[in-house]
Amino acid sequence: MEKLLQQLENYKKEITAANPVSADDIEAFRIKYLGTKGLVKSVMGFMKDVAIDKKKEAGQQLNDFKLFVEAKYESLKNLISETKHTNTDIDISLPGNPVLVGSRHPLSLVLKQIISIFQQLGFAVAEGPEIEDDWHNFGAMNLPENHPARDMQDTFYINQNPAWLLRTHTSSVQARIMEKQKPPIRVICPGRVYRNETISARAHCFFHQVEGLYIDENVSFADLKQTLYFFVQEMFGKDVKVRFRPSYFPFTEPSAEMDISCLICEGSGCNVCKHTGWVEILGSGMVHPTVLENFGIDSNKYTGFAFGMGVERICQLKYRVNDLRLYSQNDIRFLKQFTGVV
Ligand code: PHE
Repeated sequence: MEKLLQQLENYKKEITAANPVSADDIEAFRIKYLGTKGLVKSVMGFMKDVAIDKKKEAGQQLNDFKLFVEAKYESLKNLISETKHTNTDIDISLPGNPVLVGSRHPLSLVLKQIISIFQQLGFAVAEGPEIEDDWHNFGAMNLPENHPARDMQDTFYINQNPAWLLRTHTSSVQARIMEKQKPPIRVICPGRVYRNETISARAHCFFHQVEGLYIDENVSFADLKQTLYFFVQEMFGKDVKVRFRPSYFPFTEPSAEMDISCLICEGSGCNVCKHTGWVEILGSGMVHPTVLENFGIDSNKYTGFAFGMGVERICQLKYRVNDLRLYSQNDIRFLKQFTGVV
């Protein structure tokens, strides 16, 4: 009995000193001490040699020893599962994967601003089809077949049916409005338009327009000027200067192009304004009587003005975008610069 107690004491010391670190070491510990052929099992075998009157005490001691080994094994297991969480390849201090926040496209931003300025003046918004017939895009706009001005707005035709084309301006939407609505008409027509152009920094085969139309009794060129002047001031600020240059459009008479002082160089000359200090932003004029009559609007009673601008151009001046191609390349480095602009 004495010998047994002494032996258990020695084992306890050995076990206390054991310091397995890896999961494999701990498993080896379990097999060595607690396995079916392990130490605990084998010391239990000593019971049969113990004298009857000592059996109770010896049983107690052996049981304590078994509990002692099991407790040690449990604590080793806990230790390793704790270190598993802290001692791995995962660096929990690394920042997470950012959730990318989208932004509005710059053309949408500018379009929204243009629309809201004209809405303040009571203009309604109208949209129409991008695939048009010849009449709404050209004929009704006083651009009959073989008219030389069609050259400036060459577009894409549909082989099977050349009477259909991709609209070159949203004047076609104005045509559709005049077709079904009687004056007064006060409408802007935003939308995508197409032209047969070679793509470069300054030209593209599609772009966006906002055209406007105001028809009523006694609408004059002064109304046109004041409306567009209001638009420019709201869009670009009070300091921007405006000038009108006589021009020609088949659907307006008289016609004028409107320039604003160059916002990039503030008039001193740069390649955006081609060193003139002025940039053209829109075409405009008084609606040609023939256009009114095409829709049964009495040109002796009613007059009107119309204008049309390219959204890309307004956006170029507002946000200094110097290459038209950027708008449609979907380059995230370009687009994300507009995050937070509302
Ligand atoms: N429709 C013309 C264009 O696309 C712009 C314009 C509209 C000019 C209305 C005058 C009046 O070029």
